[in-house]
Amino acid sequence: MENPFITYGYESADYFCDRKEETHQLVRLLTNGNHVALISPRRMGKTGLICHCFAQPQIHDNFYTFLIDIYATKNLQDFVFQMGRSIVARLKTKGQAAIDKFLQVVTSLRTGISFDGQGNASWNLGIGDINTPSFTLEEIFDYLQSADKKCIVAIDEFQSISAYAEANVEALLRTYIQSCRNAVFVFAGSQQSMMSEMFSSPARPFYQSVSLMFLKPVALVEYERFAERHFENGGKHIEKGTVELIYNQFDGITWYLQRILNHLYASTDMAKIDDVKNAIMQIARQNEDAYEDTIIQLTSRQRDLLIAVGREGCATKITGTQFVKRYHLESASSVQKAASMLVAKQILTHRNGVYEVYDKFMKEWLRYRYQ
Ligand SMILES: Nc1ncnc2c1ncn2[C@@H]1O[C@H](COP(=O)(O)OP(=O)(O)O)[C@@H](O)[C@H]1O
Ligand SMILES: [Mg+2]
Repeated sequence: MENPFITYGYESADYFCDRKEETHQLVRLLTNGNHVALISPRRMGKTGLICHCFAQPQIHDNFYTFLIDIYATKNLQDFVFQMGRSIVARLKTKGQAAIDKFLQVVTSLRTGISFDGQGNASWNLGIGDINTPSFTLEEIFDYLQSADKKCIVAIDEFQSISAYAEANVEALLRTYIQSCRNAVFVFAGSQQSMMSEMFSSPARPFYQSVSLMFLKPVALVEYERFAERHFENGGKHIEKGTVELIYNQFDGITWYLQRILNHLYASTDMAKIDDVKNAIMQIARQNEDAYEDTIIQLTSRQRDLLIAVGREGCATKITGTQFVKRYHLESASSVQKAASMLVAKQILTHRNGVYEVYDKFMKEWLRYRYQ
């Protein structure tokens, strides 16, 4: 491994920091037949934890596991497409017989999957080819029910379904899931309020049907050990206090730690506390084009508010006279409108009256660019 601090996906236990408790808990819940909702802010490590659990022998050896990412899906047709495609992609690693078995049950996808001379399947469907999504969904659940091992199905970015064009998808899924005794589900989601609402509100179909798991940051000491181990293994060194500085500035969010440690590892044999600031700026500068693209697409009021919030860091009372004056914004009502738009676009976050720039590297860049 060239750089032990990976910034996307899952590699293996070696490159995965801690999560012993969470792994134990999630594996135990799933192997005992409980559905789980896994909730945290983005980039905390939900998808990583799911992959790590799927790699544990108790799960790996006894279950079929599927990970279905429904980020940016907009309706049932998209959903069924992703589900079918992800399952087929997974079964491909098990050979032609596994796919044949799938197609025996999921007849509506048969024409869209072909085999080459070596028996390798290819998926030739577009979203529009899912003609009768609810029928295909039923067939997919029939398949899960009839599989010769128990299945674990993780649906990632699950909150997407609450914005689907159809109103009944939640109820539909709930019905299938409840009657499918051969599969347990993980619902992973990043929008805390939306996810909590879906699973803890008596009015919603999934009420009380899952165990809730809120994923917190990895403990600082664990991250320090992990970072030191990998620097030492690579014949490098990281000064004591460096990880702590990053951890505190980025609220322990895993991806930021990984991204900055990756940069430090790549750029020096002797990472020091004083290098952190520079590393953050360099990473932010690498994303400059994307940030500028984002800003260009905003109205001038939205842009001014974004810059103001970036400079402020954690902005409170943004419609108050003080804030409006300090950043030369137009009026409380225009700030309110712009703020809602920026939150809806996931450029700002809003929690308990505090606004922040979602992407913390973007925040640093805004501060540097518009200081
Ligand atoms: N325990 C971990 N140790 C090391 N890297 C991790 C760990 N958990 C997640 N990551 C990395 O952090 C990033 C964000 O994790 P991810 O699982 O995608 O977050 P989420 O699904 O919550 O948005 C990814 O690059 C992933 O590789
Ligand atoms: Mg994820």
